[in-house]
Formats: sequence, structure tokens, C-alpha cells
Amino acid sequence: MFSSTIACLSGRHSWQNDAVTEPEFLYGTAWKEDRTPDLVELALRMGFRGVDTANQRRHYFEDRVGQGLAAAYSAGVATRADLFLQTKFTYQRGQDHRLPYDPAAILSVQVAQSMASSLEHLGTDYVDSYVLHGPSSACDWTHADSEVWEAMRKERDAGRTRLLGVSNVSLQQLAQMAAVHSEGPAFVQNRCYARLGWDRDIRSFCGERNIIYQGFSLLTANAEVLRHPLIVDLAASAQVTPAQVVFSFSQAVGILPLTGTSDAEHMKQDLASRDLTLPPDAVQAIESLAG
Ligand SMILES: NC(=O)c1ccc[n+]([C@@H]2O[C@H](COP(=O)([O-])OP(=O)(O)OC[C@H]3O[C@@H](n4cnc5c(N)ncnc54)[C@H](OP(=O)(O)O)[C@@H]3O)[C@@H](O)[C@H]2O)c1
Repeated sequence: MFSSTIACLSGRHSWQNDAVTEPEFLYGTAWKEDRTPDLVELALRMGFRGVDTANQRRHYFEDRVGQGLAAAYSAGVATRADLFLQTKFTYQRGQDHRLPYDPAAILSVQVAQSMASSLEHLGTDYVDSYVLHGPSSACDWTHADSEVWEAMRKERDAGRTRLLGVSNVSLQQLAQMAAVHSEGPAFVQNRCYARLGWDRDIRSFCGERNIIYQGFSLLTANAEVLRHPLIVDLAASAQVTPAQVVFSFSQAVGILPLTGTSDAEHMKQDLASRDLTLPPDAVQAIESLAG
């Protein structure tokens, strides 16, 4: 079961000593279209050092993420070495007609082509994390997923990514993946619903294996939580916003949060949530607030 995960993770710990460190927050670049370059540059100016994107033109404009990065480099806001860049391989069924690979090619070639295109978009010769955007089937970890995962490992071995991850994945798929691959992901990235105990089962699977859980839609999937008296009262007494309480909670339970805010003030607030320390009983109460 993920026997070489430890080796992979000890690699991660060693590169933590390098200039690239695992960020405490990821800035998400989905759905920004032509605003992507300006928002990426703004996010870096505001202090984000982790950027999440995907080579999936349907929801992301990866090429424009690269433009935003280049603008930030030119302005002296950050260097490539300061950043944690994460992108994804997306199966054809998750794409529109704007594909970053030849759909007639075998999957391992599609992975290589998608990675080459990502590196070109992002103006770099490596990313920090390469994520399978989602397994090929809703239920199982399939042969196709295994082929893609092994191709992703080859990209990692060739130095084009430091780490690997998987997204939109169920506990069953992770268990199946563990049964057939000697190496597991360094990251799992999932939509994090409070009504599922903030993805409790998957977080527990990840926690047992030193896999870092990245949570997205922490605000948008949990609108009722943001209005809950517990959160509203905690926010009022700490003089922060309910969104900041949710982000602070997520970090307290080991979730690496994503935010895709387009608002400079929200960027500031989201990052400032790192400085808010919730009492342990509040963390416990939020964890079981809705499920
Ligand atoms: N792996 C996947 O399949 C997948 C799927 C979805 C998303 N993602 C990633 O996750 C990133 C984040 O996506 P998301 O689904 O979490 O949604 P999102 O795009 O981050 O949307 C967050 C919403 O919360 C608001 N918000 C953020 N900070 C706030 C604050 N401090 N106070 C009040 N409102 C605040 C934003 O509004 P304002 O803009 O007005 O602040 C926005 O409406 C994406 O960009 C993408 O990188 C990955």
C-alpha cells in the first residue's frame, strides 16, 4: 500500500529546504478568462505564493496564468523559485474542443503532450505539482487511470514536476489506487463539503499516509455554514469575517485551502486567516457542525 509514498514524501521534505516550499494557501485560477493575468499578478502582489491551474481551457486560461506570472516576475514581485505552481492533466471528457493533446494518441502520450503544453503556458521547465484532474470513471480507479498515473510518474522522474496529486477522487478510488500502485499521491484535491464532515473519510485516509489534502469550494459548497450562528459568533468575537473563520478552521485541521477570489480585499482577508487561531473546542465544533 503506497510503499514508496514515504520515499516520495521524504523527497518533499527535502525540497522544503529549497526555495520552493509548500504554500499555506493556493490561489485558484479557474473561471477568470481574460482577467486571469491581472488577477494572478494581483494575487502574487497580495502575498500568495501557490498557484493552482489546469490545462483545461474550458475552465482555465493556463496560458494567461503564465502571462500573469511573467508580469509578476518582471515587476520583481516574485521569482519562479519563490512559487509553488500546480497544474493538471484533464481527460478529454472534461475538456471542450480546445485540447492540449492529440485525442487519437494513447493516454501516456496525451499526458506528455499536456505537460509540455503546460510548461510552455507557464513559462517554466518544471511545475511543483501535477494533478490528475479526476479519474476516468465516477466509481472506480480504472486501467486508464493507472496508465495516466504511470505516465505522470514518468514526468516526475524526468524532472518536469516535483510532486504528483489526484483530484475529485473518492475513498473507494483511492483504496483501489493503493492496491495497484506502489506510489501514492503527495496531494489529494477535493471539493470540501461540511455536510460530509469536511470530507472526513478522505482526510483521514490522507492523514494516515502523509498525503496533503487540498480543499476547494470551502465557501461556495458551504453557504449554510457561513450563516451558522457558531461561525457568525466566532467571527464577531475575533473581529474577522465568517469566510476567514472557515479558512482558519480548514488550516487548523490540516486542509490546504484554495481560494479563487477576484477581490483584492478578500485576497488580503483570505491570507490573513492564517494568523487567526481558533480555540480547539471551536475547531472541534466546526468539524462536526453539519455532518
Ligand atoms: N480540481 C477541481 O476539479 C477544481 C474544481 C473547482 C475549483 N478548483 C480550484 O479551486 C479554486 C477555487 O475554487 P472554489 O470552487 O473554491 O471557488 P472560488 O472561485 O474560490 O469562489 C470563491 C467564492 O468565494 C468568494 N470569496 C473568497 N474569499 C472571500 C472572502 N474572504 N469573503 C467573502 N467571499 C469570499 C469569492 O467571491 P469574490 O471573488 O467576490 O471574493 C467567490 O465567489 C479554483 O480557482 C480552482 O483553482 C478545482
